[in-house]
Amino acid sequence: MVPVASVGGWRPFLLVARRTFLTSAFAYSTSTSWPVVTVALTLASPTGKDGADVFFAVGQNSPKKEIFLLRNQKRSFVEVLWHVNLEKNHMKDKVIIITGGSSGIGRACALAFGRAGGKIVINGRNAQKLNEVGQELSAAGIEYLAVPGDVSQEQDCRQLIEQTITKYGRIDVMLNNAGISMRALFQDVDLDVIRQLMDINFWGTVYCTKFALPYLLQSKGSVIGVSSIAGYQGLPGRTGYSASKFAMQGFLGALRTETLHQGLHVMVACPGFTASNIRNTALAADGSQQGESPRDEAKMMTAEEVADHILKATRQRKRDLVLTTQGKLAVLLGKFLPGLTDKLVYNQMKKEPNSPFN
Ligand SMILES: NC(=O)c1ccc[n+]([C@@H]2O[C@H](COP(=O)([O-])OP(=O)(O)OC[C@H]3O[C@@H](n4cnc5c(N)ncnc54)[C@H](OP(=O)(O)O)[C@@H]3O)[C@@H](O)[C@H]2O)c1
Repeated sequence: MVPVASVGGWRPFLLVARRTFLTSAFAYSTSTSWPVVTVALTLASPTGKDGADVFFAVGQNSPKKEIFLLRNQKRSFVEVLWHVNLEKNHMKDKVIIITGGSSGIGRACALAFGRAGGKIVINGRNAQKLNEVGQELSAAGIEYLAVPGDVSQEQDCRQLIEQTITKYGRIDVMLNNAGISMRALFQDVDLDVIRQLMDINFWGTVYCTKFALPYLLQSKGSVIGVSSIAGYQGLPGRTGYSASKFAMQGFLGALRTETLHQGLHVMVACPGFTASNIRNTALAADGSQQGESPRDEAKMMTAEEVADHILKATRQRKRDLVLTTQGKLAVLLGKFLPGLTDKLVYNQMKKEPNSPFN
């Protein structure tokens, strides 16, 4: 492979098929983990000789849409001569509220939406963690406001929206991401655990959306709920978690239909297993935090990848986003073969160390 220029984190394009004017290529990007199939239009001297062809390509990579000017090099590798990211600033001047912005997916979304030009409002209960993420945002040149608060408290959610409006005067995206999980059998679990899950995951979404809605209708913005595959498929040992995510999805689905003619975008984003702090803070039967993850976090999708997908889906005003192959499979199978899916899910979840069911 010949050494070629890397522009904006992009490495060489590999030509996989060549016609006179149309060229298929693989692009490999260092900024995301996925290769991108792209179509390139040959511009000049379609001879097939090394260094002779110059052509444009459009990268379809999440969340970017980029145009490249390329020149072929030896053995089907091409050099990036010039490129422009058309959507680099697609969140410019938009105001994005992210609950649970101090960790995991919320933190990654704050950085991703901020890098796309947005002004970011982050919330979370732990003010110190929130300030640390604030410093990261500042270092990346992202304008932000940190509003500590507990989304299970109606008054905290009201204040989150009021402080956002006082500072920025508008809201474009309400990203309901704050959430906790659990791991316990229903027959053992303290009912307060289920209440906490509903209060944070479901009621937190309802409160924030309620107070943000007038501004979102004005801006024709987006309400997003970060749900889970557990919002499609009941997960054993997670009765309260699944219930809270099913409830969130029902609430957002009804809101979408209710506002059908008002230009509001409502999206349910369902990550699969994602490396984060959520399994450490998950509640056990007695309401204590389990303190460690029972799964191998290194094998999971990263929070940054999830954030890239959420950013792209927000720009495209998608209705649903389901992530990971395993997650997509569970949702699809659950629709058509629900009995079989129950068995597969049970068998998969019981493999977790210290699984409460066996
Ligand atoms: N990680 C996964 O495998 C996965 C998969 C599917 C869906 N999800 C969903 O993704 C969302 C984010 O989770 P994560 O994986 O990024 O977990 P995480 O790393 O534990 O982050 C959770 C965030 O929510 C905040 N939070 C929790 N309770 C809150 C409350 N009452 N009020 C305000 N903020 C609160 C936390 O901050 P404080 O504790 O300081 O309040 C933290 O910032 C959750 O809704 C989760 O259900 C995660």
